[in-house]
Amino acid sequence: MAILEMKHISKAFSGVYANEDIDLAVEKGEIHALLGENGAGKTTLMNILFGIYTADTGEIYWKDKKVRFVSPKDAIDQGIGMVHQHFSLVQKMTVLQNIILGLKQDGIFISKMEARARIVELADKYGLKVRPDARIRDLSVGEQQRVEILKALYRDVDLLILDEPTGVLTPKETQDFFGVLRKLKNEGYAIIIITHRMSEIMEISDRVTILRDGKKIKELVTAETNPKELSMYMIGRELKGDFEIKEQPDNGVALELKEICIKKGEKALLDHISLTVKKGEILGIAGVDGNGQTELAEVISGIRKSTSGTIHFLGEDIERFNVKQRFEKGISYISDDRHADGLVIDMSLKDNMLLKNYDKEPFSKKGVFNKKPIEEQARKAIEKFQIKTTGTTGMESITKLLSGGNQQKIIIAREVNDKAKLVIANQPTRGLDIGATEFVRQTLMDVRNSDRSVLLISADLEEILALSDRIAVMFGGSIAGILERKDANVQKIGLLMGGVTKEDM
Ligand SMILES: Nc1ncnc2c1ncn2[C@@H]1O[C@H](COP(=O)(O)OP(=O)(O)O)[C@@H](O)[C@H]1O
Ligand SMILES: [Mg+2]
Repeated sequence: MAILEMKHISKAFSGVYANEDIDLAVEKGEIHALLGENGAGKTTLMNILFGIYTADTGEIYWKDKKVRFVSPKDAIDQGIGMVHQHFSLVQKMTVLQNIILGLKQDGIFISKMEARARIVELADKYGLKVRPDARIRDLSVGEQQRVEILKALYRDVDLLILDEPTGVLTPKETQDFFGVLRKLKNEGYAIIIITHRMSEIMEISDRVTILRDGKKIKELVTAETNPKELSMYMIGRELKGDFEIKEQPDNGVALELKEICIKKGEKALLDHISLTVKKGEILGIAGVDGNGQTELAEVISGIRKSTSGTIHFLGEDIERFNVKQRFEKGISYISDDRHADGLVIDMSLKDNMLLKNYDKEPFSKKGVFNKKPIEEQARKAIEKFQIKTTGTTGMESITKLLSGGNQQKIIIAREVNDKAKLVIANQPTRGLDIGATEFVRQTLMDVRNSDRSVLLISADLEEILALSDRIAVMFGGSIAGILERKDANVQKIGLLMGGVTKEDM
């Protein structure tokens, strides 16, 4: 028996349907996956359920009663909790303070002692390890997510909506998280999990509803389907298989790092890194997040200074050049933090495309902008990278209203330009759906196949293995080992990632 039924839900934004006649039914004790590419309408549907948006048409039945939640508070009061893609915890407050924020009991603010006891009890029961007195800003994303879940459970919900919960987690954290979900399911909670990772759907869900372009395409029982079928319904076509990797002659070295160190107090963030990236090569950098990969990317792109060591690019010592000068020399950077380093999200697509060449001809001359080439650049990016803009606003679309995949495409359109000779791609497909992921990977492969270079940093081993000519594994700020593609496999890389050195293998 369904605890939740959404029927014929439609919602349009400025005349364009984000949801069109969607049905969704979820039972008690069920993990129901909502699958769809970026922009398919998943978040919108859940925001309608959670009282953030009002549907234009359609009905919601919750515990057999027709309902219309007018606010998240209303939804929570009636037993529906939601953990958003971007967390909404107060950074400077503690876990306990965040969980009881805004709660009253019989008009009186609740006792901290009782609250703490209840949090500890819930945390123990479901394996949600957190310290009630830790401050949010000191927690990892995985821990913050546990707080969000606890916060919802504390409010006695029966249905938990999780919007792309694993996008920010490491593989190990994801496994722990799935353990929590299984416990919740066994206790009779209903769970809706949004994801676009097939393997996760196969592993954790009971049923799956697939959305595409705002419409419900199919509902399937997970045990009766497979990743291939799921992706076919999701993207409406079959995916291309493996990449064809063209043999490359030895074209010489593009980038050479010698003994690069970054010291932070006593700690070495980078510890005597020496490596080369050849022309026409993808050098993969594998490793568990936080082992120096981002520092490495930043020291090459010029965002950070090294404490010692040398960097040569195409034979030239580039130490003295800043980010912009390095960009002009052909070093592009696709950051893992799109919002901090990649895009100004309140600006339009067009202006984000202009961010790094606004002072160059033909875009401007003596401080005066030249509209035509600026628009031409944006138009080409939209066309070449098939960027889906909002409604009818086209290149004037404000970046923050675009889906993550389309935001990433803007960065790639800007960074992977004709002048780019080395592309540093830091987690370039994290959080993207299959279609966009394939597109990004093909773009990087095209760079390599045109005798240019790619430094690919990824926590996704399948991605590293599919694309790299050689694979360097980072551990604790050092290179634990470098493997040739033909000698590399998941097991060897995994050992190096865990700190086992090549000599010990
Ligand atoms: N507040 C909004 N204003 C205008 N358009 C929006 C808004 N929210 C979502 N959209 C549009 O609705 C569509 C579906 O978005 P969304 O539900 O976020 O997709 P998903 O979560 O599946 O990636 C997208 O085209 C998106 O640009
Ligand atoms: Mg979404």
